[in-house]
Amino acid sequence: MKLLVIGGGGREHALAWGLAKSARVQTVYVAPGNGGTALSPQLQNIAISDINELVAFAQKEKIAFTVVGPEAPLAAGVVDAFLAAGLKIFGPTQAAAQLESSKDYAKSFLVRHHIPTADYQTFTDPALAKAYITKQGAPIVVKADGLAAGKGVVVATTVAEAHEAIDQMLGDGSLGAAGARVVIEECLVGEEASFIVMCDGRSVLPLATSQDHKRLKDNDEGPNTGGMGAYSPAPVISPALHNRIMREVIHPTIAGMAKDGIVYTGFLYAGLMIGSGPDATRTLKVLEFNCRMGDPETQPIIMRVKNDLTQVFELAVDGRLDEASIDWDRRTALGVVMAAHNYPATPRNGDIISRLPKDTDECMVFHAGTVLDNGILKTSGGRVLCVTVLADSVKRAQAAAYAAIALTHFDGQQYRSDIGWRALPSAGSSST
Ligand code: AMP
Ligand code: GLY
Repeated sequence: MKLLVIGGGGREHALAWGLAKSARVQTVYVAPGNGGTALSPQLQNIAISDINELVAFAQKEKIAFTVVGPEAPLAAGVVDAFLAAGLKIFGPTQAAAQLESSKDYAKSFLVRHHIPTADYQTFTDPALAKAYITKQGAPIVVKADGLAAGKGVVVATTVAEAHEAIDQMLGDGSLGAAGARVVIEECLVGEEASFIVMCDGRSVLPLATSQDHKRLKDNDEGPNTGGMGAYSPAPVISPALHNRIMREVIHPTIAGMAKDGIVYTGFLYAGLMIGSGPDATRTLKVLEFNCRMGDPETQPIIMRVKNDLTQVFELAVDGRLDEASIDWDRRTALGVVMAAHNYPATPRNGDIISRLPKDTDECMVFHAGTVLDNGILKTSGGRVLCVTVLADSVKRAQAAAYAAIALTHFDGQQYRSDIGWRALPSAGSSST
């Protein structure tokens, strides 16, 4: 069979790699892909981004099903277009993708359906927004309403910093339409976890748990990024918490969408803040929804899949997800992102990737911001590579990942040296 993966980041490289392992697969096309997918014999990049051209390509090549990686094509209605053409695709419709594409939509949805989340207010007027911030005090969180490629959230530790975020988002228009409205919300404390499920409109299949590291620097310091590394499983999600998340967040979300007249299909990612205390009573709040898998969470999650992923997606696009299961490798998967010089502010492009370790099933370098330029692999984005390994414990996974990084080089490379630290004390937990 021929498959299509839409996107060009590390998440899409991992999805395409996972799908291509199936003996049933002839080619996985990746649109547009990156340098890593260009180098892989079973993957083929196609330089198409227009939705109608993607539909025409899928029809012409008789693509069995398409998987959408990033949020932008989902918010632009790629799933609606494929379904209208009678093509199989895994992802939420444009209406369902509003859970991610509008923070205001997501927050009012959460409140309307009694799903726990931080208190908030939405503003379009900078003066009113600033007055509200002054009244609430710091710390406080300011979020651009629309998609802002990971740049739309400011966790402000002072009122002045929050006011500055308002000036930037509502004042100078630097985020364009995405920043025309802001959500201001209570600052939550606790441990963050990513809980990702697959939905087919009726049933839900939870994926292995994971956690990412959003801050640029060690000890979770420095600016927020798209994610500097991730691992799976996340020991914080005990079986008891897993049940609570399904009961208190995931099922009410799918049911709430249905009540609002929207059938949810595709990945649903709940970013959660988990308070301290015993699992039965610790607070559990939704920080955000994404209508896709996380990047870099996907890379370690996909490394742990032992069975044929094509069968899981095939059942999902046929509305038979209740018949699907995923056989998870019990080992820990851990991925460390190597980012370009000056990421996240203004990453430098064009550095030559001069060394890479050999890819194996236990150590994969998933590419993101890379391009094959006349046979030479160069950096072409902020997050460049995600070195992802499988090992028997978090500690061994860390050792293996950093050993592989020592075999990798491009000028200006930056990476964290502590990915997985939160999972260390309780490594070997029973969570999946
Ligand atoms: P979001 O795009 O909403 O996930 O926000 C990006 C990151 O900002 C999250 O992963 C958190 O680290 C942080 N964040 C978002 N909302 C809050 C909140 N209400 N309280 C504390 N931190 C937050
Ligand atoms: N790693 C967080 C995200 O993909 O949104």
